[in-house]
Amino acid sequence: MEKHRSAFLQYARSFFNGDPEKDRYMQLKVDHTFRVCGQADMSAAEEDELRAPAVRRAVALAALYHDVGRFEQLKRWNTFSDAQSCNHGLLGAGILKKQGFLDGEEREILQLTIAAVALHNRFSLPAGLRGDLFLTVVAVRDADKVDILRILAEQLGPGSAADKTMLLHLKDAPGVCSPAILKALREKRIARYMDMRTLDDFRLLLCTWLFELRFAASLRVIRENGCFNDILDGFTGAREVKAEAAAVVESRLNPAPSARSA
Ligand SMILES: [Fe+2]
Repeated sequence: MEKHRSAFLQYARSFFNGDPEKDRYMQLKVDHTFRVCGQADMSAAEEDELRAPAVRRAVALAALYHDVGRFEQLKRWNTFSDAQSCNHGLLGAGILKKQGFLDGEEREILQLTIAAVALHNRFSLPAGLRGDLFLTVVAVRDADKVDILRILAEQLGPGSAADKTMLLHLKDAPGVCSPAILKALREKRIARYMDMRTLDDFRLLLCTWLFELRFAASLRVIRENGCFNDILDGFTGAREVKAEAAAVVESRLNPAPSARSA
């Protein structure tokens, strides 16, 4: 993996151009990448279903390269919003092939990795995704979400200095939530980025991510870092809505003993 880490770093650094603002965002993605690698390693080490050597290798590679498209995205469009630019998962999969980062890897591992990078940011996974590909994608999606939650909690907590690029240029409209986001929370499914209008929408949307997280290590790290305390503390909407969101967080992070063993 050392060879891959060097190749990734060399590629990422080629986008640093001396503009402090842009370079800071580029560095943010580099740091995010390595934390996602650590989180994915943790799940791979403790989950039986990720134990097959090909899956473990693909998970490690896909974690390392999952956001390789972000650098080109930021350079060309100056945003991390896919809606306002391009699908950075597909862009990344194309870059992986073009740059030959996976040359020399076994065909199965190469295919798993490219597919996982392409799918890591999909709103929902294609129906019928099974087996090693399903596991590889889910492991990367889980690890990615754990780190994004930690980063965004710093931005969405009370009195945080909000970074517009990281918060996707959403309006700071205290007390305003979009019905579609609230509906998703109540129906216990993931909310869509495209339905967000305000920062409170973003806070609620992040709560809905808990419905998808699969691995014990993901939920454990989130529980331990307390990111949802900040996210909920920053919520400015109705007290009842905040209580609903808090109940979702509680039920996923601290399920009742019977639910945990079910
Ligand atoms: Fe990503």
